[in-house]
Amino acid sequence: MEDKKVILSGIRATGQLHLGNYIGALRFFVELAKNPGNKCFYFIANLHTLTTHTDPELLKKSLHGIVLDFLSAGLNPETATIYAQSSIPEITELTWLLSCLTPVNNLMTMPHYKEKGANLGKAESPNAGLLTYPVLMAADILAVKANLVPVGQDQHPHVEMTRELARRFNLRYGQLFPLPDLLEGEGIRLPGLTGHGKMGKSEEGRGVVYLTDSPQIVKGKIRKAATDPQRRTRKDPGDPQICNIFTFHTLFSAPEEIGQLSEGCRTAKIGCIACKDILIGHINEVLGVMRIRRQELEGKGKWFVDEIIHQGGIRAREVIQQTVQEAKELVGVPSY
Ligand code: TYM
Repeated sequence: MEDKKVILSGIRATGQLHLGNYIGALRFFVELAKNPGNKCFYFIANLHTLTTHTDPELLKKSLHGIVLDFLSAGLNPETATIYAQSSIPEITELTWLLSCLTPVNNLMTMPHYKEKGANLGKAESPNAGLLTYPVLMAADILAVKANLVPVGQDQHPHVEMTRELARRFNLRYGQLFPLPDLLEGEGIRLPGLTGHGKMGKSEEGRGVVYLTDSPQIVKGKIRKAATDPQRRTRKDPGDPQICNIFTFHTLFSAPEEIGQLSEGCRTAKIGCIACKDILIGHINEVLGVMRIRRQELEGKGKWFVDEIIHQGGIRAREVIQQTVQEAKELVGVPSY
């Protein structure tokens, strides 16, 4: 394991996965797991989910659905350790050690906390889990001594905070954690189809394309999606830089095609419907492969998924127990 690059990432169990999760994170999970030089840990962050979702049945259902999404996207449980965060109590133990190194002020300025707190309105106080969310995330990452964390743009501040916590821990108690890197570049942010904000699990309905949507549903949602508001008629030239659909093309289409679509939009040679139909084709190509795999997997029954997360939990816990033991020794609070 020492010679391998350790990769870790997680996804909350808030419902079905969507195209944003796929294009910003899941497709990298699959690519990275194909490299035998990597040791990959991918988990369902069901403890993080508790900060916003508290329905026990939904939590369990989402966990299963996400494992199916992982496998449908092409992850192989032999080459990637797939587990539930809740299987590993040592993660919350490490969270406490890291909490004691984390200034509350830093937590209060995290975009996630400010955003979710603002959504609650003045009368309701955000729960403490929302505040300490990034510390639990740092524990997830540091517990396997991850070198690389593939996540979408919205999660970058949390990984930056993890690096800061690793630095602090190593400085105070002795070298233990590598500083985890992000994927190169600014990170990916897929917009919602309504043209407002990013595609997100919490924006139900037509703003979101789910990985399990049928070809017809994908077509219906994309056909209704917002585009450049300047293009009121077919003859109006558009500006791809302000068109939601063009952003999708930059992520789902080939470079040559992106150039042609940009030019076609600016000169009004191509209309929005034709432009959308090309995108629909590409998205359905990606989802088509997943639909076939998912159908096969669903036939295998619930126990099949249970067994994958059970075995993955055992494998991940072995590694994590070891790290947390080392951390406790360094901090001076070993298990006697
Ligand atoms: P979550 O569940 O919100 O999202 C899972 C992954 O999907 C990415 N993502 C997007 N990427 C691009 N465009 C979008 N519209 C979009 N929406 C979601 C997210 O950036 C993320 O990579 N806190 C994490 C879960 C987590 C975690 C971790 C991740 C817990 N512990 C440790 C990495 C390492 C979260 O809520 O992701």
